Amino acid sequence: MTNSLDHAAKWPSPIMNQADAADRFEELAKALKAAGLSDLSDVAFDTAATIDLADPELQKSWGGGFNGQEGRRALFLAVVEATKPTAILETGTFRGTTTEWMAERFSGPILTCEVQERYYLQSRKKLSRFPNVSVFLSDSRAFLREQLRTFERDKPVFIYLDAHWYDDLPLAEELEIIFDNLEKAVVMIDDYEVPFDPGYSYDYYGPDKALTLNLLKGAAKRDGKIFFPTLPAERETGARRGCCVVTSPGIADKLKISELQPVTLQDWRVTELKGELESTRVETARLYQELSRKASVLATAETAGLVEFELETGEYQVLSALSEQENAGEPSPLDADRLQMQTQFVRTALKNEIQRRKVLQEELLTMKAYMGIE
Ligand SMILES: C[S@@+](CC[C@H](N)C(=O)[O-])C[C@H]1O[C@@H](n2cnc3c(N)ncnc32)[C@H](O)[C@@H]1O
Repeated sequence: MTNSLDHAAKWPSPIMNQADAADRFEELAKALKAAGLSDLSDVAFDTAATIDLADPELQKSWGGGFNGQEGRRALFLAVVEATKPTAILETGTFRGTTTEWMAERFSGPILTCEVQERYYLQSRKKLSRFPNVSVFLSDSRAFLREQLRTFERDKPVFIYLDAHWYDDLPLAEELEIIFDNLEKAVVMIDDYEVPFDPGYSYDYYGPDKALTLNLLKGAAKRDGKIFFPTLPAERETGARRGCCVVTSPGIADKLKISELQPVTLQDWRVTELKGELESTRVETARLYQELSRKASVLATAETAGLVEFELETGEYQVLSALSEQENAGEPSPLDADRLQMQTQFVRTALKNEIQRRKVLQEELLTMKAYMGIE
């Protein structure tokens, strides 16, 4: 209870807009839940959801269904037309924007799941006008496991995977569950890298958490087929997020449509390697430029005898520091310490300078060898 009261005490700060008000009710709801007051928490979540729903700007979410992308919408319709799914499943409902768009065009059952209570509640209200839509409050993996085992294995099902937002990336597991349960799954994954078209953006949460090739290896091992949009990103509208379509082998043939191109993992790896090669080339050119700059600095320094001068200065400093030490006779402990430190400093400086010069000379040799200069 202390937590929730502390929390509420922060509230007098001004409320900026509707979204801010909804955020605060959501925070309050979470605090109430943590304090064990679940009835009150439900009311606060419901209020946050009601405020969300009343804000037309919030309801647009990235410009409407499928991130406001006309090309993606056409792709969805073409895939549905070609594969005739008996149902559609979506993971990650958020504000139900894409669910609503699909429900206006598909009359079969649509099941969607959301892990956040606020979004779940507002989507449930928003989508209540569609008798064929069911919204679930659930983690995507549990949702897929529970729902898919009730489906007939050999019937085509379209699944839109869009529940990747947080640290935990459920995608690989989601695909595994789908492949375990269905022989004719058609899966569209939002926010995916399109290997031949960098104009599409995709999710990158770190090297092992990017929506790229790696995540499809499991599906490929099970003979899954991979497709990408043929539409170039520059002709796409809206948020221009990339996507990937993965199917079970049993239905891949149906996807010979102009909106999609098939890609094997090998094709993709070759594209990746080409990209890596290109960036290595760019990096090599940059390094040679850097080397050539250093070489000319070294040449100038050598011409002007600067390196020798610096070395001599260093040696001189060492020698004078040493003789100062000798001349000091019976130095006081303070002087002796100072002289020792000074000597040490000069020695280090000298060593560094020699090392620096060695590196520069090696770089110069490499540079000359590269340029074919004797
Ligand atoms: C990108 S949004 C979905 C957008 C929505 N599909 C649309 O097109 O309008 C991602 C949603 O997935 C939800 N989410 C994240 N991880 C999840 C999980 N493991 N299970 C279910 N939902 C999840 C987030 O709370 C968020 O609402």
